[in-house]
Amino acid sequence: MKDLFEKIYRDKGPLGKWASHAEGYFVFPKLEGQISNRMKFQGKDVITWSINDYLGLANHPEIRKVDAEAGKQYGSAYPMGARMMSGHTSLHEQLQDELAEFVNKEASYLLNFGYQGMVSTIDALVTKHDVIVYDVDAHACIIDGVRLHMGKRFTYKHNDIESIEKNLERATKMAEHTGGGILVITEGVFGMRGEQGRLKEIVALKKDYNFRLLVDDAHGFGTLGKTGAGAGEEQGVQDDIDVYFATFAKSMAGTGAFIAADKEIIDYLKYNLRSQMFAKSLQMQLVVGALKRLDMLRTMPELKESLWTIVNALQSGLKERGFDIGTTQSCVTPVFLQGSVPEAMALVRDLRENHGIFCSIVVYPVVPKGVILLRMIPTATHTLEDVEETLIAFSSIRQRLENGTYKRLSAAVFAD
Ligand SMILES: Cc1ncc(COP(=O)(O)O)c(C=O)c1O
Repeated sequence: MKDLFEKIYRDKGPLGKWASHAEGYFVFPKLEGQISNRMKFQGKDVITWSINDYLGLANHPEIRKVDAEAGKQYGSAYPMGARMMSGHTSLHEQLQDELAEFVNKEASYLLNFGYQGMVSTIDALVTKHDVIVYDVDAHACIIDGVRLHMGKRFTYKHNDIESIEKNLERATKMAEHTGGGILVITEGVFGMRGEQGRLKEIVALKKDYNFRLLVDDAHGFGTLGKTGAGAGEEQGVQDDIDVYFATFAKSMAGTGAFIAADKEIIDYLKYNLRSQMFAKSLQMQLVVGALKRLDMLRTMPELKESLWTIVNALQSGLKERGFDIGTTQSCVTPVFLQGSVPEAMALVRDLRENHGIFCSIVVYPVVPKGVILLRMIPTATHTLEDVEETLIAFSSIRQRLENGTYKRLSAAVFAD
């Protein structure tokens, strides 16, 4: 019989195999200093384009004050126990009511983390008789939620309405056979490439198919829509989203998440969400901090305006310089280049060391072989000078990528 660890000793996995070249620099980098548009990486000043602090709240003085005061008042333990048993408070309820109102739903329920919360929400919404239809490019938390499902599931081609419809037909036949219903799951904004989920077209399919729609709007919440209520508001279909989900980890610059829906659905989830029933309640400092953040989302539309000034300057500047930024329809700004993984590493090193630009690098297997995806997250704290500096740097690295500089540099490194 094999030792359980044998496979681990043998194969570190598709990303893990790069660890000796990548760790501490490309993956698990340590950004230091106050969270802002400019931080320190390995002692150097860098413009940071890899922090999901869309509205610039992470280090806002008012937020820091409220967080510190809440920490002083409640410590980091309060309340103890799961919501259902001993961890329930009026402030948890207040935050839920305010979140529900903000996203225009009857009720909401807090989740400790977006990831686990989404897994658990999917688990609670379906039985083995139900059928799930979901986007093939869905976030890992959706995929893992679907993995818990004991019944049938179908993936559809990314954001492809024809494929959704085809799978809804199959799902309908299946559900008629099993006596269950259908849950469709998509993202409001796809976090890697920035396109919005085609919510409007998906909702239109409700005319012909009987399904409920769950939307993970992690990147849309606070950034899209007139009031910041997200991708549903942006596309005019918020009322047709049956279960709306967002995390506090991005626009809210916090920790935690929530789901929002009709009261009867939330009342059900409250008693059936295993991630909340069997876990300690969201700690009070985070609840108080989230109330303050939500208040700022509501009352300071200028934060979203500043964000979009930067998004528009960055995206149009990149396009004018002929960069391929895909089909983003959100703040997420991808830049697609062609090259190998070692070339990508040399390129990112050049960006960080010689141009002082820090952005995330995404390579195979997350994107197809030969594609280098530089993923940038603009925030309200960035300046137009940051954008200009970045555009100049990008033109330079593209030239060096095309003239083979990174190929030569990476060959030298990998030959060592
Ligand atoms: C689309 C999406 N869903 C869910 C999550 C998970 O949220 P959390 O960080 O609160 O666990 C993330 C990442 O934060 C995300 O990008």
